[in-house]
Amino acid sequence: MKFQAIKGVRDILPPDSALWNRVEQTAREVFATYGYGEIRLPIFEATELFARSIGGETDVVSKEMYTFADRPSDFLPPPTFSEIGVYIGNLKKWLEDGRIPSDVDNKLRIVSLVQAWENFSSKPQGRMLDFNDLVEVDQMGRLRDGVRIGPDLTLRPEATASVVRAYIEHGMHVRPGNVKLCYIGPMFRRERPQKGRYRQFYQIGAELLGTSDAAAIDAELLEMLLAFFERVGLKGATLYVNSIGDKNCRPAYVEKLREELRKVKDKLGPDSQRRIETNPLRVLDSKVPEEQAIIETLPRIAGNLCDACRTHYEKLKEELALRGIAYEENWRLVRGLDYYMRTTFEITAPGLGSQNAVCGGGRYDGLVELLGGPATTKGIGFAIGTDRLMLSLQEAGVGAAKGGLDVFLAWFGAAAYAAAVPLAKKLREAGVAVEVPAAEMKFGKALNLADRLGARYAVILGDEELAAKQFTVKRLGDGTQQKLGEAELVTYLRG
Ligand code: HAM
Repeated sequence: MKFQAIKGVRDILPPDSALWNRVEQTAREVFATYGYGEIRLPIFEATELFARSIGGETDVVSKEMYTFADRPSDFLPPPTFSEIGVYIGNLKKWLEDGRIPSDVDNKLRIVSLVQAWENFSSKPQGRMLDFNDLVEVDQMGRLRDGVRIGPDLTLRPEATASVVRAYIEHGMHVRPGNVKLCYIGPMFRRERPQKGRYRQFYQIGAELLGTSDAAAIDAELLEMLLAFFERVGLKGATLYVNSIGDKNCRPAYVEKLREELRKVKDKLGPDSQRRIETNPLRVLDSKVPEEQAIIETLPRIAGNLCDACRTHYEKLKEELALRGIAYEENWRLVRGLDYYMRTTFEITAPGLGSQNAVCGGGRYDGLVELLGGPATTKGIGFAIGTDRLMLSLQEAGVGAAKGGLDVFLAWFGAAAYAAAVPLAKKLREAGVAVEVPAAEMKFGKALNLADRLGARYAVILGDEELAAKQFTVKRLGDGTQQKLGEAELVTYLRG
């Protein structure tokens, strides 16, 4: 049997990984100049955290999450039916002790299981099992498998919910000024894999939490984002911005939109038809060609913002102008997660085909309160899709600056080997990347391998070099050669 990575997940190999590392390091450095510190978050969290934050009707929560039932390490369902009585007794006890989830569904399953077991075990023992007995055993097995002995957990589909959870859990609202956190790592969504869309993908994100919702904060976050893109060499990115209102003005707009959509329902595809009732804003996101002309005629949020939201949006545009940030307004930019309000934005990059959003984000002022934190804390943030950023950079020919092999240390004879090993160690201590063949090679083969490994230099060490205490150094790019003593060699290669 041959194992392969699961569809939608992939390995990132050298030399690509060097570019990934450079990009991630650049993010840390650029974000640090704006006062952001890195937060390392868990990969899985309680399912409920994501359901509440992102919203039960969103694609992410309703279709795409990798969710599993956890269990305490000492609770194991019995391997054979003979022990089920003891196990059922334990379930009852664990439920009473509050050690396993005590929601109504779980309680019902356990009560049904206890009853089924009492029924079954009250029958005379030692008789031949008949058909009815087998049906009962089968039913008990199903009930047992349905009992949750641990919480439901989910591989994180995004990290904003986790950052807010951590902010509340660690009482970070008492910290001075705005709390600025950034993160780097994998996220998981069960999406249909294609170019730029994976089931395990990576994000570089940043979140700012604090009591102010000043538009200057939104603009500075965008400035930082663009400074990062500039530093990593991303060309041709476009920033789109929008305001989607707040809890005062959005509900009325959504209702208005719903009414208009109902009038044209028959002309819409099944997804948009369903969204008229569940989440009409998402219809604006539709890419279905036949729906585009209809969407253009729909009422726009800009004309329906309340005074406070309109002022905030105008101020944002002023703040962007102050920073010389170019952007396009896109009234259809509503984003796919429920926690957003007011400012939303996305950045597209070239070379990505249909999955061209390389970054998305926005303001989420009510989220901290929704998750049980202080009502006064507001938030804004973004996440960059690192996989897509890499694709765009690679398409544009941006590579990792340095990296790869500096020296292939070709040795000939046992005495040369004994000198090569400590020399390699010394060079590596000086930061030079060295490859030492583990077995002696013929001269031609050694130099050929050095070439194929992409080494910048071959250092040659044979009897002659040992006697003269001079190494032969060959620059593989142009074939020039010189002899150097050990101290000169280290200085030369380091430079
Ligand atoms: P999002 O728009 O769902 O927002 O994801 C942000 C970025 O992650 C996308 O623009 C895209 O580049 C990348 N991405 C998303 N799904 C995939 C996928 N399946 N494969 C490859 N890349 C993907 C969020 O996640 C929010 N938490 C952003 C945020 C932070 N908002 C406020 N703070």
